[in-house]
Amino acid sequence: MSRKNKIALVIGYICIVLSLTFLIYILNEVIQSSNRAQEREQLNERVDFIQTFIEKKDSQLTIQHADRLERILKQLDNDLTLYDVNDQVVYKTTTKQHPIVKLPESTETVIRDQRMIYLKPLQENGERMGTIVLTAPLIKMKGIEVLYLLIFAIGIGFFILLHRTRIQYIHPIRQVTRLLENLLQGRFNERLSSDSKMEAISKLNHVTNMLANEMDIMSRSYMYQKGRMSTLIENIGSGLLFIDGNQKISHINRTFKQTFKLDTTHWKRSNYEEVIPYEEVNELIQNVFALGKRQSKQMMIPIHIERKHFDVSCAPILDNDNHASGIVVVFHDITELKKLENMRKDFVANVSHELKTPITSVIGFTETLLDGAKENKTLEEQFLHIILKESKRLQSLISDLLDLSKIEKDHFVINWQKVNLNLIVEDVILILSDKAFQKDIILINHKSDPCFAWGDPYRIRQIMINLITNAIAYTPSKGKVTVSLENDEHDVKLIISDTGIGIDKKHFPRIFERFYRVDKARSRDLGGTGLGLAIVKHLVEVHEGHIEIDSELGQGTTFTISFKKAQDE
Ligand SMILES: Nc1ncnc2c1ncn2[C@@H]1O[C@H](COP(=O)(O)OP(=O)(O)OP(=O)(O)O)[C@@H](O)[C@H]1O
Ligand SMILES: [Mg+2]
Repeated sequence: MSRKNKIALVIGYICIVLSLTFLIYILNEVIQSSNRAQEREQLNERVDFIQTFIEKKDSQLTIQHADRLERILKQLDNDLTLYDVNDQVVYKTTTKQHPIVKLPESTETVIRDQRMIYLKPLQENGERMGTIVLTAPLIKMKGIEVLYLLIFAIGIGFFILLHRTRIQYIHPIRQVTRLLENLLQGRFNERLSSDSKMEAISKLNHVTNMLANEMDIMSRSYMYQKGRMSTLIENIGSGLLFIDGNQKISHINRTFKQTFKLDTTHWKRSNYEEVIPYEEVNELIQNVFALGKRQSKQMMIPIHIERKHFDVSCAPILDNDNHASGIVVVFHDITELKKLENMRKDFVANVSHELKTPITSVIGFTETLLDGAKENKTLEEQFLHIILKESKRLQSLISDLLDLSKIEKDHFVINWQKVNLNLIVEDVILILSDKAFQKDIILINHKSDPCFAWGDPYRIRQIMINLITNAIAYTPSKGKVTVSLENDEHDVKLIISDTGIGIDKKHFPRIFERFYRVDKARSRDLGGTGLGLAIVKHLVEVHEGHIEIDSELGQGTTFTISFKKAQDE
């Protein structure tokens, strides 16, 4: 209770006591005045009675039967004083001095010293003879002091009662109220003492403490769940949209914003149809609102210049009564899966095609030979050469496929060691120099400082063979293929450049895909199957290096591969 309220309470309480006292005072006054009128009447009657004892002899006033009168007056506790015309005392029943009053011309009553004084002039034939003064004690209302005392005692008692009630009931109730208010505001640490003398209060405190404990546990668990849920919602790999029962968007997760690259600042609290720019998604949401059942659909959604594939699932959020209180829309990006699926389809088609072509020609030429062509020695030799070439192609295709599938496996490991790149370059150039010579291509080993890389020498050799073979294959005669090594701060670079046909930049993103060839016919003529660069890309990845391509159509191509540098000891 505030200080202000306390003061108001005390003032109120004092006012009540004062009003009660005032009421009793008024009541007392009313009773007193009625008593006085009655007393005055009584004294008047007595004075009339006393007058019968007064006699006038020789213009002197005397009292007859004074003894009797004195007795009567004594019994009544009345004092009589008789004055003559000169205001001299003629007769007195008491030696006590009655209060000094001025003798009046007409009958009067005066109250002095708790006595009523009745003054009556005596007249005979219209002439004043003297004055009778009769005094009597005032009738007192009995018990008025007791009444005042009672009121005071009741007042004190009431005040003590009020104070005790406040301490015993109001104060604990206030504490409970404050604790409940704190609980409402999410502050759960306060507890009440449960050792009150009042059983009801201690029970109330105990139950309130239990409620606070429960709410504390519930709130912690709710906060934990909420934290878990929001972490999940924000970090899940799928885009999420929450729509409430009024068809307004209530939440958009981070993945959604990142995936769709849309300005979603005004989306919250907006009707989903007004902001979601994808007709197909809106139709799906409409269906779920109408049917109240989960639905999903695969969609292709354009995002800027890309076209992405999504598995869009839309499910109603059910409340305790199984009513849909909203909807959650999940956008699962399946673009990569689609790509992989397409690649797998392409791969099977490509492998079949690549296998079919040489086998068909082997079978065809063998049959022709058996049908009699072998009789012609020139034809026989020519056909056998074709059969050998196609068989070698088949062999290289199969070995490349096996190699690729081995490299692509997750647990593929290489034999890490410090590799002298200069030695490998020399070795590879030696192997391929004959091929270059046959095409009249100059193969240059651009000498450099010793370069050491971290990697597998066998696989680095494979990378070099593939790239230099390509450079020779796609460079016309009289061309030039240069192999050089460069030391960087952390990397070692292998640069293979040619003066060949070059690659149009639009093919760059696909050049490392399996079976991708810029010019299928030309490549196949050259015996290529389109697996070389795919193998190179995977091998560079397992070396934790990277590959760059730079090419100008008709000018030549440069492949730059960075390997991790091994420090020279
Ligand atoms: N140095 C280059 N100059 C021009 N085009 C090239 C060069 N290297 C590769 N290409 C192009 O890239 C395609 C893919 O090369 P990749 O090495 O993967 O396959 P391939 O040489 O055709 O067959 P193989 O599997 O036998 O190597 C080639 O078909 C060719 O069109
Ligand atoms: Mg190749």
